[in-house]
Amino acid sequence: MCGIVGYIGNEACQEIILGSLQRLEYRGYDSSGIATLNDDRLQLRRSVGKLSELKAKILEEPVSGKIGIGHIRWATHGGVTEQNAHPHSVNGEIAIVHNGIIENYASLKEELMDKGCVFSSDTDSEVLAHLFSNMIGQGLDPKRALETVLTKIEGAYSFVALSKSYPDSLMVARNASPLAIGFSDDMVIVASDATAIAHLTQKVTYLKDNDYAILTSKSHTIYNGENEMVNREVVKVNVSPILLDKLGFRHYMEKEIHEQPDAISHTISAMTDSNGRLTAGLEDYNLSKIKGIVLLAAGTSFYAAQIGRYWIEKLAGVPVVCEVASEYHYRNPVASFQTTAIVISQSGESIDSLMAVRHAKKLGLDTYGIVNVVDSTISREVDKILPTRAGPEIGVASTKAFTAQLVVLICLAISIGRQNGKLDEDISNNIHQKILKIPSTIGKSMNLFELILPISYKLKNAHSCLFLGRDMLFPLACEGALKLKELSYIHAEGFASGEMKHGPIALIEEGLPVVSFVSEDEISRKAVSNLKEAEARGAYIIIIGTQTAVNMIDFATDKIIIPNCDPILTPIVSAVPAQILAYLTALEKGTDIDQPRNLAKSVTVE
Ligand code: M6R
Repeated sequence: MCGIVGYIGNEACQEIILGSLQRLEYRGYDSSGIATLNDDRLQLRRSVGKLSELKAKILEEPVSGKIGIGHIRWATHGGVTEQNAHPHSVNGEIAIVHNGIIENYASLKEELMDKGCVFSSDTDSEVLAHLFSNMIGQGLDPKRALETVLTKIEGAYSFVALSKSYPDSLMVARNASPLAIGFSDDMVIVASDATAIAHLTQKVTYLKDNDYAILTSKSHTIYNGENEMVNREVVKVNVSPILLDKLGFRHYMEKEIHEQPDAISHTISAMTDSNGRLTAGLEDYNLSKIKGIVLLAAGTSFYAAQIGRYWIEKLAGVPVVCEVASEYHYRNPVASFQTTAIVISQSGESIDSLMAVRHAKKLGLDTYGIVNVVDSTISREVDKILPTRAGPEIGVASTKAFTAQLVVLICLAISIGRQNGKLDEDISNNIHQKILKIPSTIGKSMNLFELILPISYKLKNAHSCLFLGRDMLFPLACEGALKLKELSYIHAEGFASGEMKHGPIALIEEGLPVVSFVSEDEISRKAVSNLKEAEARGAYIIIIGTQTAVNMIDFATDKIIIPNCDPILTPIVSAVPAQILAYLTALEKGTDIDQPRNLAKSVTVE
């Protein structure tokens, strides 16, 4: 949520900063800005709207200099206005960009106003600019200024500050919001994530919580929360520029839907040992310790968790609870039967999920992370990572990361089940063979774009839509509804089919679209009567399932047939048509598919 960049080096920084902001646009896109320093002059440009608006402004009024900062905003405190856009500057002396929330900003603001500071925005971030202005004004050097500002602020933040008094330094810090410093011989660049700088350098250092640093064009000096100079590991980042390109697709989301066969086969490879056995990268020792699991996640990752629960309970016989991350640590959860917390996160940066797993750690649980971004904060904090190998996911709506998470979860379920004796070798090998076929099965699903297009024409005029499923297809129904609402802004809800008669059936009226996931197992047969009841009341029924499953529902208006697959794998295969349906409906409606309104890819505020 919000992306920040800072550059100091030998080259004019305007285009470098804009290039990195472009790569951070998935983090926020309601306004943006840039500030540079040249010849003792701070130059500031800010714009409401997408980055293209800022670029247009800069085309008319370029900025110059070899040191600068940039920001792309997802509004938290203060509306979407130019005044609230970053960088925030004080008297043309100081400029700051900030990601996160300064929780004690109200009291700080009051204090600063009492001292005569005049605020020009409604943001929490502006207090940082005033604090720096005060410290530098008192003659503190950049390190002392940073050190002092950090004693005053509370919350989750990463920021970069620039001062006219120190034209050869940038001041940066992080706490719970990510920050990566990249460097080469003649420049240092800092950004909210490494993908924003990987095209400029592969050498990257990640700041840890409470770290701060002074950057010059030739150095980056890092200090920890105790003000001791520290070395942080330098990692080689490898984000192929190809992975960040749309490669001819209309949207990143469309590209990422098509990338699922690859994402899944890479993920399966990461979950397989040298004998080809699914091990989830865990030694038997770790697996035997797992007696009870809490799955922690948000949004789409939470629905993956809920599907995972069905698999782990069914295949491994281990009790599982799923917790919405933002609720977990505020609830004083009792973990008596649990041994293990597994946090699921594409970005590895969702603050809710991070806080939840930290809480689980405090409760004494072993912590595992199913994470796509391996250099993320969550990856670094958990005891063990089970990586999804989906590659960078840029579209705000999660697609390939979701199906990759499901693959990790089913592999994990099999591994635990085999280890604790619930699953015998034959059954686990049999499921393993079926899992290996998922990439090609999903590859065949790409034909569904054509089949689903006419359905999206009908759906685009709907005001509301229900998604139904039973058993492990119930969480998939919730995920289908989430995809449709976030992309097309059509109100959508997911329900367990069996729950319809307990209330939601009151919503059914003539023409209401009801999308139902079905599979070939017994329990899906029970869903037929639930659907019949909806159809009898005039609902427009759309069915998603294999040919055999769909044959059970001859009264459906539209049928989306997925390639044949074992019922246990249906949530993975059926996720694809749900994504395509949401994508094409949004395309028809003309919404902003890769950057839907009000959303951010990685939510780093509570
Ligand atoms: O990066 P994470 O998996 O932790 O993100 C969790 C949610 O914010 C995310 O899944 C969100 O719901 C997506 N917009 C779904 O498409």
